[in-house]
Amino acid sequence: MKSQAIITLAVLAGCLGAASSASGAKESANVTDQLYSEKLRPQFHFSAKAGWINDPNGLVFYKGVWHMFFQYNPFTPPAPFWGHAISKDLVHWKQIEHAILPDAMGTIFSGSAVVDWKNTSGFKKGDDAPLVAFYTAAGGTSDESKGAPFTQCSAYSTDAGMTWTKYEKNPVIPHIKGANRDPKAVWHEPGQKWVLILYIDEDWFALFESKDTKIWTKLQDFQFPGHTECPDFFPMKVEGEPGVTKWVLTTAIGDAHIGSFDGKRFVSEAGPLTGDFGANYYAVQTFSDAPGGRRIQVAWMRGAEYPDMPFTQQMNFPTEMTLRRFPEGLRICRLPVREIETLHDKEHKFKNKAINPGENLLAGISGGLLHIQAEIEPGKASAFGFRALGEEVRWSADGNTLSCLGKTAIAAPENGRIRLEILVDRTSIEVFANGGRAVMSSCFVPKTDSSQLECFAEGGAAKAVSLKVHTLKSAWR
Ligand code: FRU
Repeated sequence: MKSQAIITLAVLAGCLGAASSASGAKESANVTDQLYSEKLRPQFHFSAKAGWINDPNGLVFYKGVWHMFFQYNPFTPPAPFWGHAISKDLVHWKQIEHAILPDAMGTIFSGSAVVDWKNTSGFKKGDDAPLVAFYTAAGGTSDESKGAPFTQCSAYSTDAGMTWTKYEKNPVIPHIKGANRDPKAVWHEPGQKWVLILYIDEDWFALFESKDTKIWTKLQDFQFPGHTECPDFFPMKVEGEPGVTKWVLTTAIGDAHIGSFDGKRFVSEAGPLTGDFGANYYAVQTFSDAPGGRRIQVAWMRGAEYPDMPFTQQMNFPTEMTLRRFPEGLRICRLPVREIETLHDKEHKFKNKAINPGENLLAGISGGLLHIQAEIEPGKASAFGFRALGEEVRWSADGNTLSCLGKTAIAAPENGRIRLEILVDRTSIEVFANGGRAVMSSCFVPKTDSSQLECFAEGGAAKAVSLKVHTLKSAWR
């Protein structure tokens, strides 16, 4: 085995172009020359080269590039700032120079970014539309900002998102209450204005409007019982209903309200609806300006463990949201973005194959990075499912339950069939049932080195009407 040369984080900081104001701290993690090949390194989920990440921030698409900023803390003591990664396909990410660093107003907490196509901000220089970011200056969370309150600030980029300048008249929204935070802005086309949602305190949120990204007026306060942090607010077209648009409001855990917004007030018509039934899904945010009207959500897979790794925490695989009408009302469905296909390696295909109890339909097939797409008729089976990396995805006829890594969701057969899409990476399993109607995103620490795959049925035969298993390439190669 190749020896793992350890380099210090100070060297890494140099590689990343870390600015000195964020790096007054000592080395807190080690980085190896096996970067991105470490045993527990997710191979197609974003994680930072080293250190701690949490919320996705400032998700925005501009000129063919997906920008993902993220709460980053590779140093001690805690001082989150905005790290930055870019991608051309939502799959292959490159971590680049840090974007927004702490100052005397505070460390840099979560927020969002938009493309200011009409230059409402007046920040434009040259040919590019300015990108404007909104973040929370978390006053009092560092020595430098002792005594300062939490306020909402902005920063802008005039070079297509590559470098950022803080607005000189910050804050744009002064302190309101407690640790008010996590501004998420969206362009409101009918009103030709910006709308911003903010987490205030306890379970209170507020909406604001602005014509220029700089002066904000409050529109509405509302309560979302039991919910906190990282709100998102955006319009979505109802699939198959031309001309019908609804507004979706999500909070950190990804639960949603679907309703109407007349430019002044949001009225919930359905919700809260569970966004994800898994164990590790938090701080959700959708991209601004995704092409083709796509609505793509990224979450931090909070709570996962990566023993002995130089990095910690990962994002989920980006998912595309659709708004669909079901007999029970409007619901959001989420599926992995189609760009997952760029990683497809070997394909194993089955059509109308019996899954007999005691047999493994996937005998002889192994893989640790997987994209499984299945349409299964449970028939007489009391249960069926898959095993990968020693973990199980199990559908059970008793209650139509789908379970994985200790979590459960309901997935009832539609026309006698269950559709499943499953992504397996080194430390995560994401299960999408019935076209994304129920999603479970969870992480695990592998207990085995075996990558033998299994497809099983119990209590009677099930039928794989169609089953495709793709092994995947690493996104880091
Ligand atoms: C959510 C959160 C946000 C905050 C950020 C700080 O995980 O607590 O509310 O802005 O993390 O890192």
